[in-house]
Amino acid sequence: MDLSALLLFSVICAVSAQAPVVFVEPKAATVRQGETVSFRCQVRSSVQPVNLEWTRANNQALADNIKVGPEGSVLTVSNARPLNQGQYRCVAVSSAGRGAASAVLNVKHPPKLRLTPAGPLLVRVGDAVSVQCRATGRPRPKLTWRRQGSTLQLFTTDTDDVNTIQWPAIRSEDLGVYVCQAENSEGVSEAKIEVIVEEEPGAPVASVTPEEITAVEGQTVSMECRARGSPPPLITWSKLRAPLPWKSKDENGVLTLESVGRQDSGQYICNATNVHGYSEAYAQMEVETPPYATCLPDQVKLQAGDPLHLQCLAHGSHPIQFTWSRVGRAGLPAAAQTTKDGKLLIPNVKPGLSGTYKCVASNHIGSSEALANVHVKA
Ligand SMILES: *[C@@H]1O[C@H](CO)[C@@H](O)[C@H](O)[C@H]1NC(C)=O
Repeated sequence: MDLSALLLFSVICAVSAQAPVVFVEPKAATVRQGETVSFRCQVRSSVQPVNLEWTRANNQALADNIKVGPEGSVLTVSNARPLNQGQYRCVAVSSAGRGAASAVLNVKHPPKLRLTPAGPLLVRVGDAVSVQCRATGRPRPKLTWRRQGSTLQLFTTDTDDVNTIQWPAIRSEDLGVYVCQAENSEGVSEAKIEVIVEEEPGAPVASVTPEEITAVEGQTVSMECRARGSPPPLITWSKLRAPLPWKSKDENGVLTLESVGRQDSGQYICNATNVHGYSEAYAQMEVETPPYATCLPDQVKLQAGDPLHLQCLAHGSHPIQFTWSRVGRAGLPAAAQTTKDGKLLIPNVKPGLSGTYKCVASNHIGSSEALANVHVKA
């Protein structure tokens, strides 16, 4: 062999002595948790022997539920777990070099949640509070927060696998149980946290709503006393200079008075008490009533020439207007004088003025009438 022939031979050898070429089938697989999947590694190599090895892309050891089959060509994941998810590489090594290919395994699984911090969460009024809800699960779960027993929208922020509920400054009415829910095609899971809001220890501060009440006789009236303070104040109701009406009910700071009457008008006092002190708040109630009218006198006997004096009296809410008329006649006699406070005067009666005189007393709630019989002897 001459030198040129030897050179050519070496070139052919170098060309045919290539590193192994590797294919993996399938390149990607998605299975449910608990299912089994296999990846096959195929090698083309001009040089034997070829040594096959499966590794994880992150160089971790293969989990114990993963077996490698005859001569390393088949990787089988049985009873797949979320942790098996990731990239697997098949590496082929021969004296001519090495080749590799990889496959990706996705393991679908129902969501799992973790709350940070975990509950129960003890905070003070005004604190900035946030709770992170972190989910694992494939496909990526949808995360939502809600308040137990409420459909109100909550303030949350969503980033990747974390949904955070936030209160810039928590209020005492924010206390309650909050639920984070994660959902994907494989299932739903929930985690709860109880938020307990502590008030600053302090003396009560009471307030009553409404502070002024106008009611009509017969109505039912409620007034509510609320008191801040810690420990929670005890609320008691009383009435200024009088006992509470006997039909009153006191429940959770709400005083209810049934079928109120004029005598129930007055000032009602809420007294909130705890170990640090007490606080009083007031409500003023006026009960309005329709007029109740009477004539004084209601029977009169006069001689012609006498003066006639009639007084219409009424109780009920002011202002009260009085109107006199004569029953069965178009108007009062020309000589009649009336006053705003319900008086009727005829200075000099004649027999023709005998008859029934009517007073109507009215206010903005109603009216009432009263009659007086007048008899004038000739
Ligand atoms: C409210 O309670 C305090 C403490 O018990 C008491 O001293 C005060 O007299 C009460 N006020 C009224 C209006 O009852």
